[in-house]
Amino acid sequence: MTAESMKETAETEFTNPNLSVLFSADDIEKRISELGSQITADYKGGDLVLVGVLKGSCVFMADLMRAIDLPMTIDFMSVSSYKDGTVSTGDVEILKDLSNPIRGKDVLVVEDIIDTGLTLTRLLDILGSRGARSIKLASFLDKPEPRINKELSVDYTGFVIPNEFVVGYGLDAAGRYRNLPFIGIVKNPAEA
Ligand code: IMP
Ligand code: MG
Repeated sequence: MTAESMKETAETEFTNPNLSVLFSADDIEKRISELGSQITADYKGGDLVLVGVLKGSCVFMADLMRAIDLPMTIDFMSVSSYKDGTVSTGDVEILKDLSNPIRGKDVLVVEDIIDTGLTLTRLLDILGSRGARSIKLASFLDKPEPRINKELSVDYTGFVIPNEFVVGYGLDAAGRYRNLPFIGIVKNPAEA
């Protein structure tokens, strides 16, 4: 057995030593269940549509909707952010728009993480002109330190985190790690 193939058998993507676990799958499950109960109570009698922002929110969306015990629908949008390397420029381009109108609906935008908040600010501007009855925001993670739009309020937050680059549970580094069942901090981004 070569050194390289031994390394492959010892380490898997989920046990990658370049990651340290910030929130385990159990931590996440508990928190989503709390958020689901809260959203269920708040939207009783409403006309709820969850709007997932692709791709990062896909895992959160899948878990969150199964924790909401109400009649509801889902839709997705895809917007481009991070046009300038890893720094958000605030220029948001709609790559995929909603499939259905939101007029009269109670929209809950579902995001993976709010960082500077610029992407969400633009997105909420765009959705705000479409006649929804209400628009609120659920973000799995909130990283308040780099926030540029201090006015942006998050109605439902999974976890508030320090100013670290995190991956897993839908979040990626250059497209990788979205499949991790936990949230991890990349210890050495150069090796990611
Ligand atoms: P904002 O416009 O700076 O708030 O950008 C938010 C978007 O940046 C998120 O939806 C993510 O796609 C991405 N992002 C911000 N921080 C992280 C992180 O720590 N890990 C992975 N993606 C991140
Ligand atoms: Mg995103």
